Amino acid sequence: MAERKKILCVGLVCLDIISVVEEYPEEDTDTRCVSQRWQRGGNASNSCTVLSLLGAPCAFMGSLAAGPVADFIMADFLQRAIDVSAVAWQVKGQTPSACCVVCPSSGSRTVLLYDTDLPDVTAQDFSRIDLAQFKWIHWEVRNQNQSSGPNTHHDQVLVVFQVFVSKDVARHFGFDSPEAALKGLYPRVKKGAVLICAWAEKGADALGPDGLLLHSDAFPPETLVDTLGAGDTFNAGVLHTLSNGGSVQDALTFGCRVAGRKCGFHGYDGIREK
Ligand SMILES: Nc1ncnc2c1ncn2[C@@H]1O[C@H](COP(=O)(O)OP(=O)(O)O)[C@@H](O)[C@H]1O
Ligand SMILES: [Mg+2]
Repeated sequence: MAERKKILCVGLVCLDIISVVEEYPEEDTDTRCVSQRWQRGGNASNSCTVLSLLGAPCAFMGSLAAGPVADFIMADFLQRAIDVSAVAWQVKGQTPSACCVVCPSSGSRTVLLYDTDLPDVTAQDFSRIDLAQFKWIHWEVRNQNQSSGPNTHHDQVLVVFQVFVSKDVARHFGFDSPEAALKGLYPRVKKGAVLICAWAEKGADALGPDGLLLHSDAFPPETLVDTLGAGDTFNAGVLHTLSNGGSVQDALTFGCRVAGRKCGFHGYDGIREK
């Protein structure tokens, strides 16, 4: 039987060191947190986790530097049955890590990523992989040239050219709603593209070449627990739907459904349960 074609996610993988707190800590205080854990993180890497939980074969491509952090990350990729054959092993630099504060009472997640000196994957790395094994390629694009402001990234998808823009990036551009962001940024994406913007508890919107604004409400869980990676989960839900031929409206709704479910659990395992 022919192997099912995979979704390739290209972008960041890092170690997330997550502290769950009752209340967001005050600066210069010394407090206890509720729990602490290590988790494989990074946008593209998280989306792979969710795709794998949704039963979609997927592969991750990004840089790693050998060492104990990479060992932890690789073990987790393998446990999730994510194809890691396209990982670019770097001989210089360190695998990045992020300190994440997850606050269930407010639903916030605060992330401090140190962008290390680890080189990015190159066109040459790309030329070494067999693209015929993929039905969809999802690209996480990061703007490195800025000294302040949020860590802006937007995730692009080839094939139908569909672009995700996160709330953090939209805000950075001065937009205060998904509609405003989509209308403001649409002229800047490739002609014919679909632009998608998720906005936490407001759900998500999309705008395509027909000029129609699509929307899905959020599906809040009974109890808000962990919003870290909600956007990556949303993206995976959208990719899953579109790569199976679903409509943009179906993709938005499914993305919000899966992301909402995810917010009711720590980590990602809750996604698989009904
Ligand atoms: N507090 C929340 N309540 C309900 N759904 C949420 C909440 N936060 C996130 N989501 C769901 O996750 C999706 C992405 O969340 P968002 O906060 O925009 O991403 P991120 O902060 O990870 O970039 C939203 O479209 C929504 O469906
Ligand atoms: Mg959020």
